[in-house]
This record gives sequence, C-alpha cells and structure tokens, in this order.
Amino acid sequence: MGAPKANDPCWCGSGQKFKRCHKGAFEPVRAGRLSPTRAVPAEIGRPPYAETGDPPGDDEPTVKSSDVLDRMRRSCTLAADVLVAVGQAVRPGVTTDELDALCHAETVAAGAYPSPLNYHGYPKSLCTSVNEVVCHGIPDDRRLADGDIVNLDVTVYREGVHGDTNATFMVGQVDDESRRLVRVTRQCLALAIDAVRPGLPVNVIGRAISAHADEHGFGVVREFVGHGIGEQFHTGFQVPHHYLPGLQTVLEPGMVFTIEPMITMGGWRTRMWSDGWTAVTMDGRRTAQFEHTVLVTDDGCEILTVPSDESRRRLHPYWTS
Ligand code: MF3
Ligand code: CO
Ligand code: CO
Repeated sequence: MGAPKANDPCWCGSGQKFKRCHKGAFEPVRAGRLSPTRAVPAEIGRPPYAETGDPPGDDEPTVKSSDVLDRMRRSCTLAADVLVAVGQAVRPGVTTDELDALCHAETVAAGAYPSPLNYHGYPKSLCTSVNEVVCHGIPDDRRLADGDIVNLDVTVYREGVHGDTNATFMVGQVDDESRRLVRVTRQCLALAIDAVRPGLPVNVIGRAISAHADEHGFGVVREFVGHGIGEQFHTGFQVPHHYLPGLQTVLEPGMVFTIEPMITMGGWRTRMWSDGWTAVTMDGRRTAQFEHTVLVTDDGCEILTVPSDESRRRLHPYWTS
C-alpha cells in the first residue's frame, strides 16, 4: 500500500481531504513533553517503592491466602472502574497527560495509590500506548488523533495489594484493519482465560493466544509477559503469551496472575525508546493489548478485574467491542 497523498480524499470515505482526516494515523508516535509529577495525599497508603523507586522483592507466593484474595478482589474492581472512567475521556484532541490526570484523580479519590507512579522510577500514574507503542507509553502532551488506537493500562494499590488491567480504545473513526487487530486481541485474552484450569500447564495460555493470532496473521509479543501480582506489583511468576512447549509449571487453585497479550499487525519484535520505558514494534506497525488479573478456581478461571456494575461493564471494551 503506497502512502496516501495529503490532498487525496481520505480512504475512510469521510469525503474530507486525507490531511484533514486520517493523516495522523500513519505518522509515527513521537515523545512529547511531560507535566510535573503528580502528588498523592499523605493519608493514602503507599507501596514500598513509592519513595525510593525500588520494589523490594519478587518472591511472593502465586497462591493467595483468603485474606490477600479478599483485598485483591476490591483492588481489582477499583482498577476496572478507573479504566472505564478514563476510557470515557478518550476522544480526538485529548492529551494522554489529561488521561493520566484523570486516572490519578479517580485513583486517589478512591483512597488508592496509582501503582505505576515511581515504580522503578516510572514518572506517571497510567500507561498510554498509542498505535505502534506496544506497552508502557508515558502520558505526555500528545493529542490523540482521529483514527488512533490507544491502550490504557491502570494499576491501583489499596489495602496493601495491587489490581492490574488494561484495554485498547478506538479514537474516533478507526480503519477496518486496526479494528480487526483490536477485536482479535480481545478474543486472544478471552480464549486464554477459557484455557485456564487447575492441573494444566501454564503454557495452555500461550498456546491459545498463539493459535488465534496465527489464524489471523498477527504476531505475539514475547519480550513482555503476564505476571504474578498481589502485595507485589510484579512477582517472579511469569505468564508467556506465546507457546512454549517446555513450560510445564502447573496451574493451581488460588493462583492469581495477569494475562495481558500484546498482538501485532506485523512482526512481534520490539525496541525500546531512549526513555527506557516506551516499547514500540520494530517494524512500526500497530499493536493492541488487553489485560485482566485472574484467579485460578477449582474448575477454571475467574476474572477479578470486572467493573463494579453492569452500566460500567457496558462501557468496557472487553465486554462490548
Ligand atoms: N501495568 C503494567 C503491567 O501490566 C506495568 C506498568 S509498570 C510501569 O504489568 F511502571 F510502567 F507503570
Ligand atoms: Co500487568
Ligand atoms: Co497492566
């Protein structure tokens, strides 16, 4: 496909010139300017890295006590509600920093700490990953453009535990191939969740995701994986999204971890911007992601990052798009 010319009619059928319509959708994402660090009220409980930037360990057991699980259910519900609230603000013209401000405000209003803030020195409260950004995009003064896709990744810390979830949102009118990417990515997460059962190896997750992505001609990112989570943001327990036949760790009831496949239109290889956070596809093609924190039950898998009510669920791309 040749690059469209500025004054051609836009391919989306709007009748507008391409330069006034979907031009931004083909320009690479560039780093913008960061706003000053946002403060968290002193009365809010902080994770151990909040001051130092260094999380103390990754040795937490994957199977949770009932006490930790009860607290995690509440943090996960909150994370899902914040994701829906921030997603409601996605539209052409809004900056990713404005989305960060909203995420920060909603999180602290609920008495929680925004987990990304100062995690290994990360400067913001939300990750905003646009178009070819695979994950960990840093909110800045870039305005979302009609035709963009943007992943919002929300993690909150309350009652001493984290809840982690993300979804990819469409900005205005999005082209068919990007819509297909987002749909297939959401299906990859759903199929992975369906594959989880106690007694099976962890690699059933990557097998389900890879099979569906392959069928649609899409790639599966390998450099970033799902993870155990609880009192620690990321534990040493890893959940690869591609198929590793030799990975035989067995799923057990009571385990809690994330599944967060990143699916690419082209190749799965990524590179990192010089900011040390922003991961982009090597080939510059688009990528999408969905994430849930899940619990292995006695006979399957329960999603913990479900919004608190039906009206919020109807606004969530995992349950609607
Ligand atoms: N929420 C991301 C995940 O799904 C991690 C973000 S770490 C940050 O694991 F420092 F970039 F915020
Ligand atoms: Co995660
Ligand atoms: Co996340």
